[in-house]
Amino acid sequence: MSDYVIETKQLTKVYGDQTAVNAVNLHVKKGQIYGLLGRNGAGKTTIMKMILGLTSITSGEANVFGKNIKGQEKRVYPRIGAIIETPGFYPNLTGTENLEIFARLRGTAAPNAVKNALEVVGLPYKDKKLFGKYSLGMKQRLGIANAILHDPELLILDEPTNGLDPIGIAEVRNFIKDLSASRGKTILISSHILSEIQLLADDIGIIDHGVLLEESSMSELEKKNRKYILLQVSDVPKAALILERQFQQKNYSVQDDHTLRLYDTSLDMGAVNKELVVQDVTVISSGLCNDTLEDYFKRITGGEGIA
Ligand SMILES: Nc1ncnc2c1ncn2[C@@H]1O[C@H](COP(=O)(O)OP(=O)(O)OP(=O)(O)O)[C@@H](O)[C@H]1O
Ligand SMILES: [Mg+2]
Repeated sequence: MSDYVIETKQLTKVYGDQTAVNAVNLHVKKGQIYGLLGRNGAGKTTIMKMILGLTSITSGEANVFGKNIKGQEKRVYPRIGAIIETPGFYPNLTGTENLEIFARLRGTAAPNAVKNALEVVGLPYKDKKLFGKYSLGMKQRLGIANAILHDPELLILDEPTNGLDPIGIAEVRNFIKDLSASRGKTILISSHILSEIQLLADDIGIIDHGVLLEESSMSELEKKNRKYILLQVSDVPKAALILERQFQQKNYSVQDDHTLRLYDTSLDMGAVNKELVVQDVTVISSGLCNDTLEDYFKRITGGEGIA
């Protein structure tokens, strides 16, 4: 049996002539938070819907808890909590009343299920406020409370912080982290905001135009950030010539009329600076830089970045 709570194999969804999800192999490990990062329309929701059996799979397969989901939906649902689209809460009932209805519908047995779920997301129990009067943040929280009512092992959360203010985002992030750290839940979460995934996820999958471009642990990805020396000079062509001829440097790039990036960070910059000055090239600045993760995404998605 596989070690993954979710594993997809060549998972594909075609709508008409558009391939919305293209041969995706996703690996979500037990007890980890997996962040699926991609721009609008990248295919995040479609992947989640296929994993949940909410939309048909064109080809490939989705395995949940080691079993192909196809035909097994009813057996695995009690073990999953999800928010894909906002659940249909009743506006004229309170949050507690809404959850009590969902708990009954699902046959949730635990007597304190509603109270516990509200506590996790920081909403008051037996509060008088009607759902219709809730702020967006409170609605989102109630949606998450609803997803964890039956204490599922696996949570699938599609952009749960959408529309929240920065404080709300931080709060939701904290209780999602807590669900993983102290309750051992496995969590698949999607977002189009890089910093959010970076702060939350153990593992990350980057999806673009339906293709999973990269899948790795967050720490591995952070190591990939390229280091380089940023060198600003008065005359880039002349500086490049000196670097090539006298310092055997080929691994560099020209950023603009005055800026070079040197990827050999072991280069003796004291000697380089001296030689440039001797040959009448003014050094405006030189220093070690680190590509941010955002730069990295821009590079691999070949576009303007994600966040
Ligand atoms: N029911 C549908 N019929 C036809 N095309 C669809 C349908 N649902 C999604 N798509 C298309 O599939 C692609 C992926 O959509 P999806 O909703 O999975 O993206 P997403 O990453 O969740 O985007 P967002 O960040 O906007 O939520 C999009 O191009 C979308 O237009
Ligand atoms: Mg979506």
